[in-house]
Amino acid sequence: MSAETSIEPVPVRITVNGVARRAEVEPRMLLVDFIRDVVGLTGTHVGCDSTNCGACTVHLDGRSVKSCTMFALQADGREVRTVEDLADGEELGPLQRSFHERHALQCGYCTPGMLMSATYLLERNPNPARDEIKRALSGNLCRCTGYRFIVEAVEDAAARLQTGEGSR
Ligand code: FES
Ligand code: FES
Repeated sequence: MSAETSIEPVPVRITVNGVARRAEVEPRMLLVDFIRDVVGLTGTHVGCDSTNCGACTVHLDGRSVKSCTMFALQADGREVRTVEDLADGEELGPLQRSFHERHALQCGYCTPGMLMSATYLLERNPNPARDEIKRALSGNLCRCTGYRFIVEAVEDAAARLQTGEGSR
């Protein structure tokens, strides 16, 4: 005889990119699934589901987190920022432009997480040394580019920001 456990949905209110989102979610729903499946923002990727790859990186109350390792419930009442917030409509933000121009992506699967980790770094350290960039991106894996162009893109973005070219 199989015993079925019913899991009651619980209400959450999570602000995503400045917009309050309310939903009833199962307590086991991951934050990344809330972002992708409930809110419909699919820029945040799932690569490993086990905190290793960083593809799911978002900001939670201004701190960089891996959204595959948190329940949506843990973000109740809090603010999430995703990669979609880096652009201004159709216009790419400075870090996105640097990734594009410096060929810092191939398949692009890791790119949203790289962008969010690098954004977190540049918000705290506008002029990072190369080693600091590498350390900041150490939780983000890329199987395509070998990292060199990614690191150069972050350096390029830091230079853009120093000259006041964009702020996102
Ligand atoms: S999907 Fe979250 S770290 Fe890989
Ligand atoms: S560009 Fe393909 S995994 Fe990074």
